[in-house]
Amino acid sequence: MRISVFADLHYPVSLKDPKELDSKPWREADVLALAGDMVNNFNPDRLAAVLDYFSSFPGEKLFIAGNHEIWTTEGNPEEIYRKELKLLADTYGFHYLDESPRILGNVGFVGNMGWYDYSLALKSFPLQDDLILLEEDNPEDQDGFRETNKRWEDLGPEDYRKKRMGWKENGKTLLTVWNDRAYVKWPYRDEEFMARCLSKIKEDLDAVSKKAEKIVVINHHAPFAGLLREPQILAKAFERAYLGSRQLGELYLRYPKIKLCISGHIHHENELMAGPLKMVSVNKMSLYQTEI
Ligand SMILES: [Fe+2]
Ligand SMILES: [Fe+2]
Repeated sequence: MRISVFADLHYPVSLKDPKELDSKPWREADVLALAGDMVNNFNPDRLAAVLDYFSSFPGEKLFIAGNHEIWTTEGNPEEIYRKELKLLADTYGFHYLDESPRILGNVGFVGNMGWYDYSLALKSFPLQDDLILLEEDNPEDQDGFRETNKRWEDLGPEDYRKKRMGWKENGKTLLTVWNDRAYVKWPYRDEEFMARCLSKIKEDLDAVSKKAEKIVVINHHAPFAGLLREPQILAKAFERAYLGSRQLGELYLRYPKIKLCISGHIHHENELMAGPLKMVSVNKMSLYQTEI
């Protein structure tokens, strides 16, 4: 069974026109999976344009949400995740994997967007001597920061929950923001939403394990720390907290039928093995193809 996967097309910011993908051999497969961030923010017409482009694929089409699919300033990210994405997937003949798994022959497909719980946060990162970390005083105030004597090692869930970090370097105040802060506003703490994704995926794995001989798992967020790059700059070091969750990978290693784990979100390609399990991160805008 041949599988084609795209992740992180970020239409229309990165991908300007779906026709740009015409030259890639994505049609030469039995299964096509779109692993999240097809659009840059939730916009039904734009997502429809991407799904419509792929809709003539004659094999099985799987759709997995990314964090950018639920980016919204006026809408409700949870409604979008549970209902609107499912509706759009149905309309264009995609199976919405976030809602339910799919079995094709002897291969089960399980997956969902996943999220983050700061378990991939970088434990240590060397800071220049003159660098001072800043603490947010007031989340509503763009400039509301004060100096702290925290070191990198002191950063914890309370800091990562803010999704914004300031620091002073050579007397200049600098800032980095993880934009889910502004575009995914819902009542969940990140750890809580991650726990929901995890228990849903466990439920789906248990159901599929009984029927399939091999399992392919597809998430948007990264399930394994090994897929990530070592950050060279502070902003990238901070982002590590939002790239995925170790809990996903730890769960997968308990299911010997899982042969392949595919994820997106980190925007670069990587592949590693843990015994017979192949873990793949799909590069932004690139086609990934494999056999199972
Ligand atoms: Fe992305
Ligand atoms: Fe993403």
